[in-house]
Amino acid sequence: MNARDAAIEDFSARYGGDPETVLRAPGRVNLIGEHTDYNDGFVLPMAIDQAIWVALRKRDDRLVRLSSVGNGQVDFDLDALVPDTDDWAEYVKGVAWAMGGSDLVGWEGSIASDIPIGAGLSSSAAIEIAATLAFATVSDQHWDPVTAARTSQRAENEWMGMPCGIMDQLIIAAAAEGRASLIDCRTLDMTPVRLPDDVAVVILDTATRRQLVESEYEDRRKSCELAAGTAGVPALRDLSIDDVAQLSSIVDETTFRRTRHVVSENARTIEAAAALDRGDTARFGTLMAESHRSLRDDFEVSSEALDLIVDIASGLEGCLGARMTGAGFGGCAVALVAESTVPAFVDEVIASYEDTTGLTPSAYVSMPVAGAGISRQ
Ligand code: GLA
Repeated sequence: MNARDAAIEDFSARYGGDPETVLRAPGRVNLIGEHTDYNDGFVLPMAIDQAIWVALRKRDDRLVRLSSVGNGQVDFDLDALVPDTDDWAEYVKGVAWAMGGSDLVGWEGSIASDIPIGAGLSSSAAIEIAATLAFATVSDQHWDPVTAARTSQRAENEWMGMPCGIMDQLIIAAAAEGRASLIDCRTLDMTPVRLPDDVAVVILDTATRRQLVESEYEDRRKSCELAAGTAGVPALRDLSIDDVAQLSSIVDETTFRRTRHVVSENARTIEAAAALDRGDTARFGTLMAESHRSLRDDFEVSSEALDLIVDIASGLEGCLGARMTGAGFGGCAVALVAESTVPAFVDEVIASYEDTTGLTPSAYVSMPVAGAGISRQ
């Protein structure tokens, strides 16, 4: 059963009757521009087919009753928002808190998702954005994607304690159907970028999960802030490659390499969006490969599994480029592949990765889909 039907079925079984609203928030994959968003830089993500679905009905009190298919039931009171340990429901609670709580109305709902958890495809940002849409709908509030993204990021930063940037929440809320988006994370301007018809985006899940990702992530973020402070600029976005060279004698070697990654990745991302726009998929692929090397060697957020799957993918016929995607340390890689070779490409990556590691990877081929929305009201 698909996630949409699973949410609706669970709703009827648990609460009786039909849901008033069914809504969807997709996962995302980032094509290029990694660890640049919290440096006010550029990213090029797209929303993907895999999504979280919520079937819900407004209540006439301030109680939120949630069930997540396969993960149990959690209730909370909007008048007593206190942090708890239930991971998935905390995202919803954090969003209620970030939305101000007092004007919100309660609801009961069932959640189902086919976004793999912890794989770097943003299942947590998807639940946050879905929650902003659910609360806005039942509370008769206008839902604006950019505001929803900022609110969700605040929930993630302050309620969940994860100092993420804005990329995931913004693309999940505001993606344009059929397009990736070049996002300027300083202004939040989004420029839609069309993918040529003869290529496909293939997401390769290494079947390894991130460990220590939050502390490593925080550490990278701090390095970047330190480097920007030392250079006397608001964010690393404000440095050019020439400026970075001058930093080499002032900051330690690790900070220098991390800075070099961010500054070069910003330049790659802007160039990659232009290349895609003019249909130059070969150049785009080369930039993906450079991005991976920079994340691996300079920013040090890749992993053996990610390096291996990127290596395997890059060597196969039809692969224009491949790189790790998301925060790193495990999870997924993304490859741009000539459409006609996709079935053979997927078979070969899976067989070869399985052979070397004994792990079974998953592959998802996704079109760029629209951001979050209501599918039935
Ligand atoms: C995670 C964060 C994003 C971004 C990426 C790395 O997905 O949530 O804000 O920083 O890592 O590019």
